[in-house]
Amino acid sequence: MTLFLVIVLSFWITCSNIDARSGTLSNETSYFTTSDIVMHRMDIDFGCINIHKQPSLNHPLLKNHKIQRYPTFTRNIVPKRSSYDGKIIEECPLGKVPFHKKTKKHQIKGFQSNSHEYHSITLDTNQTATFHGGYAHVGAYNLQLKGKQYSLSGIWVESGPPSNLNSIFVGIGVMPNLYGDSEIHLTTRWTAGGSGCYNVHCPGFVQVKSKPYLGMILSPVSSIGSFKKWVFVPTIKQDKVTGHWWLCIFPKLRCFGYFPKELFSHLSSGASIVRYGGETYTPPGMVSPPMGSGRLPQERFKNSGFMEKIKIINSEYNQIDINPRNMKINKDGNLSCYDLLYRGFEGSYSHQAFLYGGPGGRSC
Ligand SMILES: *[C@@H]1O[C@H](CO)[C@@H](O)[C@H](O)[C@H]1NC(C)=O
Ligand SMILES: *[C@@H]1O[C@H](CO)[C@@H](O)[C@H](O)[C@H]1NC(C)=O
Ligand SMILES: *[C@@H]1O[C@H](CO)[C@@H](O)[C@H](O)[C@H]1NC(C)=O
Repeated sequence: MTLFLVIVLSFWITCSNIDARSGTLSNETSYFTTSDIVMHRMDIDFGCINIHKQPSLNHPLLKNHKIQRYPTFTRNIVPKRSSYDGKIIEECPLGKVPFHKKTKKHQIKGFQSNSHEYHSITLDTNQTATFHGGYAHVGAYNLQLKGKQYSLSGIWVESGPPSNLNSIFVGIGVMPNLYGDSEIHLTTRWTAGGSGCYNVHCPGFVQVKSKPYLGMILSPVSSIGSFKKWVFVPTIKQDKVTGHWWLCIFPKLRCFGYFPKELFSHLSSGASIVRYGGETYTPPGMVSPPMGSGRLPQERFKNSGFMEKIKIINSEYNQIDINPRNMKINKDGNLSCYDLLYRGFEGSYSHQAFLYGGPGGRSC
């Protein structure tokens, strides 16, 4: 059976050398199994702190903030502790939340994404509308990066003019300078009024659950060429009642914290754009790092980075598949470094999906 599948697949890969657009992703994904990442390794640098004493609440805009324990959109879901199929190894006791003991101040000042050291390739909404979040299954691969290089993959919600861009990213990040290793970590970045930060490197994100937490190592990861793909499944969703931007992960829509609406001048009333894809950075003089799996979409689902089951939370707060007619690919730079292949609906398993990423390189 396995031999049969390998033969069928190599047939498709051979085909893809001739025409990358022949066949659909669904033809390929039907040969693969994908699983949600459920194992999160606890890091010794993390401790537990009383939920009301978390450093995030020191933000001047959160002086009178009342912690929201559960999003109103999960009100009917009975919360269950240790619900990762019994696979949680450690967590904080009730009433306490994890925090990073060694967090250095790592604030982003005057963040700009159009310098040649930054590259991004994303599928963006191209519709005048208000959005309240996004959802995607993001293929997770280990990448080898060094020093200040980084490579992010995930979802952005954004609003406001470039001079005062409000944005939240949620996804996976390989960031040796921030994390001290080249593994993939649950990563967020938020900006408002020209500055911002990663995870909880400055006050802002309010944690309400003991797991997961920002900065956590995610495992296992997918291997290039493997038939088993591991995906990370983030949701970012604005609470209709409170306006806070919740982060949730699968399995079982576990909403573990939020960015309070008080932090944002524009995102407080919704996002004007939602983006899905990747972003890399390299300091001057170094080659641009890999994105996705480090292979180009031409190498198809077996080897390439991918996102599938991509959904948007619309102006009515409904979570629906993205519509290809309302999306546009935003590519910058050299397509031998990074590319994105999107054709819309890819079958009843993947729904809206794309392949993206690449090796980076010297002339991106
Ligand atoms: C690929 O999928 C399309 C539509 O889903 C189908 O028409 C076609 O026969 C499939 N090709 C192969 C080789 O399975
Ligand atoms: C949609 O894309 C076109 C072409 O890139 C652009 O001119 C237009 O401003 C976009 N509209 C929105 C609402 O993003
Ligand atoms: C794009 O990148 C490839 C591979 O790194 C390189 O060979 C090519 O010269 C680059 N193209 C441009 C226009 O820089």
